[in-house]
Amino acid sequence: MPTVDVHTHVYPPSYMSLLRTRTTVPYVRNFPDAPQNARLIILPGEDAPDKPSTARGRPIGPEYFDIKEKLKFMDAHGIEKSVISLANPWLDFLPPDEAGAAACSINDEVDAICGQYPGRLYAFGTLPLSAPAETVVEEVKRLKTLKFMRGIIMGTSGLGKGLDDPALDPIYAALEEQKLLIFLHPHYGLPSDVYGPRAGDYGHVLPLSLGFPLETTIAVTRMLLSGVWERFKELDILIAHSGGTLPFLAGRIESCINHDGHLKKEGRLEKMRNVWDVLKKNIYLDAVIYSEVGLKAAVEASGADRLMFGTDHPFFPPLDEDETEWLSVKTNYAAIKSAFGGDEAAAKAVLGGNAVRILKLD
Ligand code: URA
Ligand code: ZN
Repeated sequence: MPTVDVHTHVYPPSYMSLLRTRTTVPYVRNFPDAPQNARLIILPGEDAPDKPSTARGRPIGPEYFDIKEKLKFMDAHGIEKSVISLANPWLDFLPPDEAGAAACSINDEVDAICGQYPGRLYAFGTLPLSAPAETVVEEVKRLKTLKFMRGIIMGTSGLGKGLDDPALDPIYAALEEQKLLIFLHPHYGLPSDVYGPRAGDYGHVLPLSLGFPLETTIAVTRMLLSGVWERFKELDILIAHSGGTLPFLAGRIESCINHDGHLKKEGRLEKMRNVWDVLKKNIYLDAVIYSEVGLKAAVEASGADRLMFGTDHPFFPPLDEDETEWLSVKTNYAAIKSAFGGDEAAAKAVLGGNAVRILKLD
C-alpha cells in the first residue's frame, strides 16, 4: 500500500510571477536588508512595514515552486504519491474579470506538472471565486476533464460572504454532480485583535495553531447550519488539519443546535442534518494534527476509513536548514503509529489506502 500525501502545496511558476508583481498581501519580495533572501507574505497581518524583513512572512525557496523539490521531499519521507494543491490565498484576491482566465491557466499548468510524474502526482484544482458564479461553475466542469484533478481546494470566504452563502449553491451543485470533493483550507484566521497587543512577540504561533483551525471550524459549522448538506446530500469535503476543532466540538455544536429556540421556531430543527451524520457521510479529514489525541478525536468523529495522511509541505520546514527529515512529518507519522497501536491495517489505510480509494488514484 503506497503512502499518499493529500495535503501538500505548490505555487506553480506563473503564480510566483503573479505574486512578484504585487506590492500588497499576498506578495513575494526581496527586501533591501536581506537582498539574497526572497520572502513570501501571504497571511493577513503579516505585512509589517516598520519591522525588519525577517519579521515579515516566511523565507521562500524552490521547495515552494520547483516540482523537483517536491519529489525530493517525497522520496526523503517515503511518500509515493502526492495530491498537490495551490496554497493560500489561491485566486481569492484577483479582480473578478481576471480570475476565470487565471484559474484556467493555473489548473492546466498544475495538471501538466502532474503529467511529468504519472502515478506520483495528482492535484486539487483552484476555482476563480472572485468571478461570477457561472464562471466558477464552468471551471468546475472543465476541471473534471483534466486527467490528474481529484477535487478543488478552497478557502473559507467563498464568493466573499462565506460558505453559507446561498449564491454558492450552483457551485456546490456542480461539484456534487461532477463528484469533485472540496478540500477546505484556512487562510484568513481570526480577527487579529483576538491575539492581543503582544501578538508580534509570538511569531506565527497564535494564527497558525488557533486562528486556522477555528476559522475552519466556523466555516464548516456555518455550512451545516445553512443546510448545505440537506440540499447537497452527496457533497463531499476534505477538511484540513483534521477538521480544525470540529471533531472535538461536534457534540457541543449539536447540543447548541438542539437547544436553540430560534431554530425550533423557524422549523429548522426537524430538517437539519445531525453533525455526526455529516461527519460520517460527507466529511473526510486529513491527519495533519501532530498528536495522538487529535487523531483519536478525528477517528471517533469521522472514522479511520475517512482519515488521510498529509504533510502541509512546504510549510513547517525544520528551523535548522540542514535537516533533511522534517520534524513536522516525523511527528505526524509518529502520531499515526501510536494512535493505531497494533492495528496495522487501519494505519496503512490512513497512510495511503483511504486516499487511493476515496480519490481514485491509480
Ligand atoms: N501557513 C499557510 O499559510 N498555509 C499553510 O498551509 C500552512 C501554513
Ligand atoms: Zn496547508
